[in-house]
Amino acid sequence: MLTLDSLYNLPKAELHLHLEGAIPLPFLASLINRNSPDQTVTPAELESGYVFRNFGEFVSKWMWTVGQFQSETDFCELVRAVAGNLAKQNIVHAELFFSPFDYPPGGLKAERITEEVIKGAELAMKETGISVLFFADIVRNHGHETAVTRVERLIPFRNSIFIGIGLGGSETGYPNEGFIPAFDRAREAGFRVVAHSGETQGADYVESAINGLKAERIGHGVRCLEDLDVVKLLKNKQIPLEVCPVSNLKTGVISSIKDHPIRQLVDAGLLVTLNSDDPTYFSTNLNNEIRVMHEELGFSPEEILELLKNNFKASFLPEKEKEKWLSVIGRK
Ligand code: HPA
Ligand code: ZN
Repeated sequence: MLTLDSLYNLPKAELHLHLEGAIPLPFLASLINRNSPDQTVTPAELESGYVFRNFGEFVSKWMWTVGQFQSETDFCELVRAVAGNLAKQNIVHAELFFSPFDYPPGGLKAERITEEVIKGAELAMKETGISVLFFADIVRNHGHETAVTRVERLIPFRNSIFIGIGLGGSETGYPNEGFIPAFDRAREAGFRVVAHSGETQGADYVESAINGLKAERIGHGVRCLEDLDVVKLLKNKQIPLEVCPVSNLKTGVISSIKDHPIRQLVDAGLLVTLNSDDPTYFSTNLNNEIRVMHEELGFSPEEILELLKNNFKASFLPEKEKEKWLSVIGRK
């Protein structure tokens, strides 16, 4: 019989995970203490600051956190630390976002951050045995006017690890339409493209992510349910949704975990995957999402296993690798 424990021990893939949102608190404390030797903070003191009433407060905390990075080389160490935590959950494959443009002019450079992320990924894969792929989040809040230039700055670094471009940040005030030229440029350069949409804004954002940005996967997308035509579009094209239940609770997208619409998304025949988004910010990880799916949302271990299979199916792994992991899981 399948149990929660057997799901925790299963080889798993995670597809919606932000590198900076997964920063281990001891790592963050060491950055802060190194940069300001006159003060000492502990991970426990930092933890109490990761509570939000809404998405705006989440974004403010994000900017404060990434403001603690003083050197691009910190990113190499961060990738290794995050990969170590993934391996502890039996995650064998992870697709992560990093946000190389979150730094003021004259601060950390996107190109150097990208090099360090790739270097960290190469080391982490050797150290842990897991595979990792990266997407650069060009972040809506930095505006669409400079988005093509941001993509162009990253094109020289595209390789077998840094494979894609993503779009996170605030949907409100930064609609998808403005980012179509940047996504066109990214696809033309060979990048895979994904976009957060339909998290804090409605189903029209999911529609424009599919038809305008040509996104291959949708981050969150939970509000697609507000328009049955958009649900049909997702279903017919089997475009995967990267669903992150605890994140939606903690940023105020839903007011109670019991209100999460993941059951409706699955029942509508959509390709639903399960993810943790920003585990440090939301006190979660993929194994905790599994627990919440069972204990709070009433999914059986067998139903959760189907979602975990979707995580491999919807990944950007080569077909052979997907088949290998699906057959390993299928035998459990
Ligand atoms: N949504 C939008 N922006 C983000 C997120 C998210 O889930 N995580 C980090 N930046
Ligand atoms: Zn996200």
